Formats: sequence, structure tokens, C-alpha cells
Amino acid sequence: MANVLILGATSKVAGEVARLLKQRGARLFLVARNAERLACLVDELAPVGHYCCDLSDPTNHDGMLCAVRRAMPTIDHVLIAYGYLGDQLASERDYREADAMIRINFSSVVALLIPLLNQLETQGKGALTAITSVAGDRGRPRNYTYGAAKGALSLYLQGARSRLWKRGVRIHTIKMGPVDTPMTATHKKDFSFIDARSAARLIVHHMQGRGGVHYVPGFWRWVMLVVRNMPEPLFQRLRFLSGR
Ligand SMILES: NC(=O)c1ccc[n+]([C@@H]2O[C@H](COP(=O)([O-])OP(=O)(O)OC[C@H]3O[C@@H](n4cnc5c(N)ncnc54)[C@H](OP(=O)(O)O)[C@@H]3O)[C@@H](O)[C@H]2O)c1
Repeated sequence: MANVLILGATSKVAGEVARLLKQRGARLFLVARNAERLACLVDELAPVGHYCCDLSDPTNHDGMLCAVRRAMPTIDHVLIAYGYLGDQLASERDYREADAMIRINFSSVVALLIPLLNQLETQGKGALTAITSVAGDRGRPRNYTYGAAKGALSLYLQGARSRLWKRGVRIHTIKMGPVDTPMTATHKKDFSFIDARSAARLIVHHMQGRGGVHYVPGFWRWVMLVVRNMPEPLFQRLRFLSGR
């Protein structure tokens, strides 16, 4: 994994992934929205390049991708880590919140995937990893707007994976369970939470393997198999699953 582009580098999980990759000798290009926190990462990790922009606005993408091409003509791996949990209740009352959740977690990612996957296809090698969520496996009252956006992204990646596997391009979908990061700062931490470093170790492990869907941590694959296939009349009666 020589040249790695990280989109949303100031995410707690992405920062830990970047540290692990740097230790393994990767050359990094870091993209994030928050200039101050990006500058701290640049000081720490000495990437070959960095760029500060709001990734939810596709009009920023061309400038960013030009800067990446100048510093890194060949990309070995892209990690898409930025995301927005949003406010579920607000998204049920106000389309602007729902739109922000769908734009940040899905449509702006598609706008990035179009040029990036075409570049990897032209290169005939390389890989792309995107962090989606177990929330995308089943709509729940607690987070179904966010879940719908992440689920749509997982579906998009599934199609792209089958389009590109013959062209030497690996695509990894990371379906992550709860992780203790700023995104979940106000959430009550129960047994299901892991820390960002542990999540990053698992993600780096999967990034080096074959493309596919990877649950992080792995036990979510079996939990979500049950949750996904549970009949709605039963699901709706189980408060720990269908409550707010
Ligand atoms: N934490 C969890 O429990 C959990 C579970 C499943 C999946 N995920 C997903 O994991 C990924 C990493 O999140 P995290 O847990 O590490 O949370 P985090 O530390 O809060 O990171 C979220 C990152 O997304 C960035 N971001 C949001 N909107 C952006 C935009 N428009 N342009 C550029 N960057 C933007 C944020 O930047 P700013 O600092 O500028 O806001 C922040 O760096 C996300 O895709 C998240 O949806 C998280």
C-alpha cells in the first residue's frame, strides 16, 4: 500500500488508520474540512500532500483531485471515511437535515467514486475502501435517515465491486458497528462500542485483503444476519431494536 488517499482524514477512525499506514511506510495524501485539525495531522504524519475542503460540495472535488494527481500520479488505495450521523428527529421534520445526511453520506461520495473508480480502472490496479455502517443493514426508528444513506452507499459499492473485479480493482465496504469517536460522543457507551484504534487495526487488516464486505468488528456480520432477516411484526415488538 504505497500511495494512499484519505478523504475525511480528521475523522478519529481515519486518523488512527493513517497512523498505522504511516508506520507501514505508506505515502499519504490527506483531505479534510477542518483546517486546524488537518494541520495537526500534517505536522504529525508528514504526508506527500494535503487539501482542505468541504467534501459534501461536489464543486470542490475537481480542485482537490487535481492537487492529488500532482502529488500522487498513481493511487494504490483510497479510503473514504468522512460521514455525518445527523439528527434523526430533525430529519423527520425538516428536509434540509435529511438532505445533509443523504448528501454527506451518499450523494457526495458517489460524486467522488465516479472519477476515482474510473482512475483505478484505467490504472488497472488499486483499491478503494469506504466506511459505511451496520445502520445501513436495516431501517430502525433510531437512525433510519443515516442508515438509508449508508445502506445506499453499500449497495452502490456492491455494484461497483462486481463491475471492477475483473479490472484488477478491489473495493472494500467496511460495515462498522458503534465506535467511541466524536460522532458518538453523546451516546451511552455499552458493550457494543469499541475504541477507534481497535477499529482502525481491523480496517487496515481488511484493506490489505481481498475486496468485499467486512464487518468491524466481525461479530456484527452474525448479529446483522439475524436483525436483517427478522420479520417486521417481531422486530417492531422488540423495543431494544425498534425503540428510539
Ligand atoms: N463512530 C461510529 O460509531 C460509527 C459507526 C459506523 C460508521 N461510522 C462511520 O465512520 C466514519 C468515520 O467516523 P468517526 O466515527 O471517525 O467519526 P468522527 O471522528 O466524528 O469523524 C467524522 C468526520 O467526517 C468529517 N466530515 C463530515 N462532513 C464532512 C464534509 N462535508 N467534508 C469533509 N469532512 C466531513 C468530519 O469533519 P469535521 O471535523 O470537519 O466535522 C470528521 O472528520 C464515518 O463515515 C461514519 O459515518 C461511524
